[in-house]
Amino acid sequence: MTGVARMLGEIASIGADPRGGYARVGYGPADRELREWFTGHAEARGLDVHRDRNGIVWAWWRPPGASGTAIVTGSHLDSVPGGGAYDGPLGVASALAAVDVLRARGEAPDRPLAIAVFPEEEGSRFGLACLGSRLMAGAVDPDRALALVDREGDTLADALRRDGLEPGAVGPDRAALDDIACFVELHVEQGRGLVDLGQPVAIGAAILGHGRWRVTIDGQGNHAGTTLMSDRRDPMVAAARAVIEIRDLARAIPDARATVGRIEPVPGGTNVIASRVSFWVDARHPDDAVTAMLIASVRDAVATAAAAEGCVATVHEESLSPTVDFDRSLRERLRDALPDAPELGTGAGHDAGVLAERIPTAMLFVRNPTGVSHSPEELVDDADADLGAVALADALGALSRSV
Ligand code: GLV
Ligand code: MN
Ligand code: MN
Repeated sequence: MTGVARMLGEIASIGADPRGGYARVGYGPADRELREWFTGHAEARGLDVHRDRNGIVWAWWRPPGASGTAIVTGSHLDSVPGGGAYDGPLGVASALAAVDVLRARGEAPDRPLAIAVFPEEEGSRFGLACLGSRLMAGAVDPDRALALVDREGDTLADALRRDGLEPGAVGPDRAALDDIACFVELHVEQGRGLVDLGQPVAIGAAILGHGRWRVTIDGQGNHAGTTLMSDRRDPMVAAARAVIEIRDLARAIPDARATVGRIEPVPGGTNVIASRVSFWVDARHPDDAVTAMLIASVRDAVATAAAAEGCVATVHEESLSPTVDFDRSLRERLRDALPDAPELGTGAGHDAGVLAERIPTAMLFVRNPTGVSHSPEELVDDADADLGAVALADALGALSRSV
C-alpha cells in the first residue's frame, strides 16, 4: 500500500458538486482547502513548500548531495464541473506517495525533486485551460489572462487578489523553467486503452491538438406568448441547428472530436425568447491543419444556422493548443525504467502538454476501469493507484540518475 487511496479519501468531501462529482473551481475555497491539504502532506514529509507568483505550489525535496536541475512531477487539484475524483488529484497524491516509496527504499534522488500543483488546469472558471502552466511558460499574454472573466463577472485579476496573489506579478518564469530538467505528470487514463491492453500503467506518447471556440448568436429577445412563430428571430433555434451540424461535421472527419458542453441563453427565462445564446465548441484532431479546416466549416455552419433564423453569429477562438509529441529521449528513459508499460496517446489536454514547449515533459497514465472521465464515474482501483505510484517512483529515481 502506498497511501494514494488513503490520501484521496482525505479530500473526498472537499468541493463536492451538489449535482454529483466535484466542482473544485480554480482559486476558489475548495481549491484553497485542497492546497492546504497538499501543503500539510508535503510539510509532514519535510518538503520545502512555496507558492510562486503564478499560483503554482511547489514542494521541494533536496537530499544532501543532490545537484543540478530538478526532476519535477505533480498535476492539478481543480476539477471540471461534475468532475471525477482522480483527474488531477491522482497525480498529486501519487507524487507524494512516490517520495515515500523512494525514501522507504533508501533511494534519494541525485537531483532535487519537486512536486508542482498547477492552478486552473481545467479552465473551468476562466475558460483557458492550464492557466498556471501557460502563465509560467509564457504561453499566454499576462494582460490577456488577467482580463479573463468568470461566470460571476470577476476577472482573473480579482480572483488572484482575493486568493492572495499579486496580479501584476504573473507571467513568464524563465528562472523556474531553467531550473527544471524534466516534468513527469502521472494522470488517470481518460479512456479504455489500458483496460483493453490488460495493463495498469502506460507511458504517454502524445496529446491530441485541441482548442475552444465561443459562438455567440444574436437574435431578438421577445415574449414567448405574444410573438407569432413566423415573427421570431430566436437564437436558441439557430444554436440547436448549429450543435447538430457541428456533431455531423466532426463525425465526417476520421479521428476528429467536437463537443458542445456548455450553452448559455441570455437572459434565460422559460417564457422569454432569448436575445442571445452563447455556446462553446471544444474541437480536437491529431493534425492541426484538419482542426483548422473543421473550425472553418463550423464557422460556415453557424453562420448558415443563424441566418436561417434571422440571427447573426460570431465565432471567437479562446484557445488552440497544437498536438504535442512528448520528448523522445525522456520517453526512451521511461521505457527503460518501466519496460512493461505500453505507450498510449491521449485526447485530453494537460500541463505537461503546455510545458512541453519549454522543457522536456512526459506522462504516465493509470488504468481507469470505467474508461470514463470528466464525470463522477471516473475510477482508479486502489491496487492500480499503488502500481502507478511505484511506477512513478521508479521513473523519478531513474530520471534523477540519467537525465
Ligand atoms: C482537460 O482535461 C481537457 O482535455 O480539456
Ligand atoms: Mn481534466
Ligand atoms: Mn487533468
